[in-house]
Amino acid sequence: MLTEEKNRLLTEVGPGTAMGNLLRRYWHPVAGVSEFETNALRPIRLFGEDLVLFKARNGTFGLIARRCAHRNSDLVFGIVEENGIRCSYHGWQYDGTGQCTHQPFEETVDPSAALRKATRLSAYPVQAKAGMIWAYMGPQPAPLLPDWEAFGWPNCFAQIVISEIPCNWLQCQENTVDPVHFEWMHNNAEQRRAGDFGPYSPRTLRLGIDEAEFGLISRRYREGTDETTPLWKTGRAILWPNGWFFGHHFEWKVPVDDRNTLFITWCTIHVPAENEPFVQERIPTWHGPVKDAAGEWITSHVNNQDIVAWIGQGAIADRTRETLGASDRGVAALRRQFFNDLDAVAAGQDPKGVIRDPARNVHIQLPCIAREDLMTGLPRAAMAKHPILGPFLRDFFLQAGQPDAVRQAFERAMGSVQTGMALHNFVPR
Ligand code: FES
Ligand SMILES: [Fe+2]
Repeated sequence: MLTEEKNRLLTEVGPGTAMGNLLRRYWHPVAGVSEFETNALRPIRLFGEDLVLFKARNGTFGLIARRCAHRNSDLVFGIVEENGIRCSYHGWQYDGTGQCTHQPFEETVDPSAALRKATRLSAYPVQAKAGMIWAYMGPQPAPLLPDWEAFGWPNCFAQIVISEIPCNWLQCQENTVDPVHFEWMHNNAEQRRAGDFGPYSPRTLRLGIDEAEFGLISRRYREGTDETTPLWKTGRAILWPNGWFFGHHFEWKVPVDDRNTLFITWCTIHVPAENEPFVQERIPTWHGPVKDAAGEWITSHVNNQDIVAWIGQGAIADRTRETLGASDRGVAALRRQFFNDLDAVAAGQDPKGVIRDPARNVHIQLPCIAREDLMTGLPRAAMAKHPILGPFLRDFFLQAGQPDAVRQAFERAMGSVQTGMALHNFVPR
């Protein structure tokens, strides 16, 4: 349980807020590179700021304020130029640093371009990596964009899924340190929804949470296993401040504002050995719907089940009304670390997990169960039987709404057709 004041402290992310300032000290994925192949300019709202994200004709990306400095026209209707974007109202042009680089009529009247040189919009650095566009909205000097090893695993097919979730980012991230939800949200509730009234799935018996270089390690085992299971020995990596690493996928929860969150999943699957070598020319990005055609929340896939848990807690979870128990020690550890981070930033220090050493930022290996299998792959028959990789050959069970073109590209990469599966027969680990 938190006081109302502390709940506000952790959940308010707009400009000038303590938590917003803390989270801005990290690079965040905000879009997919492939999204800009057909539409080079789009609006995006991050940390309560309205911005435009664009790909200039020279191929560089920019993230700048959405309103033109002249008379506030919306740059989303602008023109993409060689080295920036131009407002379509009177032609003022801006580069990726927000600097105004052309004011057609003003420069005709005053060739010294004094007004143009003094005109600048707020702008934030962006980088492309692993098929995603990453933004940094904090103070300079910016830290390094993490070079996670899994981004470079060869012979893999990656895809990016983005959904906008109408609730605060923190309740989405608290899900990462809450392993007991797996058996209920993804197994038992799914089983009952499917009309199976047989015994519930194995109970969680023990939980552990440990400090790690880039976040926390969450450990657990369930009935039928013990401390020798990789889920206890290796555990799962919670990435600071808003990520999670499962080996076959990363997740990030990026604040749009206090009541909305971008949920970004980057999933990578090694092709069967028979299909090597495989080089992915393009990492597709797709947007996962959270409601179906009838307006009902989708619950058929793992991520969608998590989403309904998060939005079910309210737009901003009221932590003055919780009843925390032994299953919530990860939640408590996560909040404690954020309070420590807020103190660190107030004292002029970096918060947890910020990377500034280029020598450390090379293919950073994270704790990962079945790392060898995920990284180096398996023959098709062994992959089909593998408890973690096998289900991916049958269905994209992570999230609903995968476009046919992405499924077909995946099937071509794998060399086999996905036949589908009943999710409740599969125990997400
Ligand atoms: S409002 Fe943008 S150029 Fe005038
Ligand atoms: Fe979950």
